[in-house]
Amino acid sequence: MAPDATTATPALTWDGSSLRLLDQTLLPGEETWIGLQDASDTAEAIARLAVRGAPNIGIAAAYGLAMAIAQAPADDELRAAARVLRDARPTAVNLAWAVDRVQDAALAVAPDQRAAAARAEAEAIHAGEDAASLAIALAGADLLSGSRRILTHCNTGALACGGTGSAPAVALELAAREQGVTVLACETRPLLQGARLTVWELRRAGISHELLVDGAAAGLMRRGEVDAVIVGCDRVAANGDTANKVGTYAHALAARAAGIPFIVAGPTSTIDASIASGDEIVIEERSADEVRHAGGALLTGADTPCRNPAFDVTPAQLVTALVTERGIASPPTTESVLGLLRPSSAAAGT
Ligand code: MRU
Repeated sequence: MAPDATTATPALTWDGSSLRLLDQTLLPGEETWIGLQDASDTAEAIARLAVRGAPNIGIAAAYGLAMAIAQAPADDELRAAARVLRDARPTAVNLAWAVDRVQDAALAVAPDQRAAAARAEAEAIHAGEDAASLAIALAGADLLSGSRRILTHCNTGALACGGTGSAPAVALELAAREQGVTVLACETRPLLQGARLTVWELRRAGISHELLVDGAAAGLMRRGEVDAVIVGCDRVAANGDTANKVGTYAHALAARAAGIPFIVAGPTSTIDASIASGDEIVIEERSADEVRHAGGALLTGADTPCRNPAFDVTPAQLVTALVTERGIASPPTTESVLGLLRPSSAAAGT
């Protein structure tokens, strides 16, 4: 039984000409929708994480560029709007992938046809990511059949993706098939996407769950209290090295030490075939204030020096399987990952 996309709260809506976002910085306390008009306000919403998660920043940017092109379809303005959106965040490849798709579709036609072409391409990207979520849920639930206690990190649900998302969609599908499934959600410092967003989604979906501080995960894995780890991804290099929310690498190391599967789930739009390994992935460094504060409260000195890398890279050797809408790379290697992108391939390495 496929997860019900209609019960998932979409992170954004598109009415054919304008974009609205559920402002994720305010969740779970407040459900506020904001309207966007052009590339610069869409880029600003992406940069401050009002919309977030690799697939959804691609979808939002696609619509942002479509709105900009409807207002100014000439080559120079179109390319400038695309640059503003592409630069909003550096790590998730979905952003540049979606912007390039809309830009190329628009530039392929005359200026008076560009608004329609850009809109159609953005809508196709959105529909494709919705469909990918469903396929990932089915494939991931097949893979995790028998697992009961599933640990996840950050938020990779409907708020982060089209459709029902990646890791929570897998748990939703598994819970629909099998009894006793519980999601262990790591809170995900500094911005608490797990505590604020994943728990909010799981609660609404009626999935059994428990919240953990990030530091508890390794100990629970070692004690045999976790059956599998499943996380999303922001950029997967050709060799399967995977960038995801900071803290993911530590979970992968702990899963390997405990001998449990570490699964990465995401659409193929997150695979960056142009880079050979994760060493080439640019890791976003965000403001020190995000580390100094939690829930608006100052935790340390107002000028405490901080590091705030928003992502880390997990080497492919620690990944049991990469689950995509086009099949599973298990284990992920250059051959199996690139195999997922070949037109005739439904699965690789399995
Ligand atoms: O900084 P965020 O909240 O955009 O980071 C999101 C993540 O790291 C998700 O795990 C990732 O985008 C995967 S969503 C399938």
